[in-house]
Amino acid sequence: MTKNQLIKQAIEARNRAYVPYSNFPVGAAIITQSGKVYHGCNIENAAYPVTCCAERVAIFKAISEGDTDFQELAVVADTDRPVPPCGSCRQVMSEFFNENTLIHIANLKGEVKTVTIEELLPFSFSSHDLTTS
Ligand code: THU
Repeated sequence: MTKNQLIKQAIEARNRAYVPYSNFPVGAAIITQSGKVYHGCNIENAAYPVTCCAERVAIFKAISEGDTDFQELAVVADTDRPVPPCGSCRQVMSEFFNENTLIHIANLKGEVKTVTIEELLPFSFSSHDLTTS
């Protein structure tokens, strides 16, 4: 699947966003090494902090199905610049992505920026920090 096809899937997932509070729909699509695609949209809640971002919905859906071998993620919103993932999503990506996992951030104007998790969240807290010396 090409980058643009994955972005198109994220745009379709965005149509399913549940955003009565922000009216800011976001879509995501993640493809695994084996070629399976999982979709995500943001899902809000009247108790605002319970909201889950599109990226995490897609990632958690894949993990809950036993797929952790991620190849590429696309995320799309109607923003002036390619939509920057929030800090919580970056931390979740840092748990499961590596330097080869491509993150395509995009907007509806067709602008796309491809980054890695190291670029989005350098010097991140990880499992290595949990070990005492
Ligand atoms: N949101 C996402 O789904 N992904 C992002 O990368 C940024 C923010 C959602 C959370 C909330 O539902 C709405 O956008 C406004 O913050």
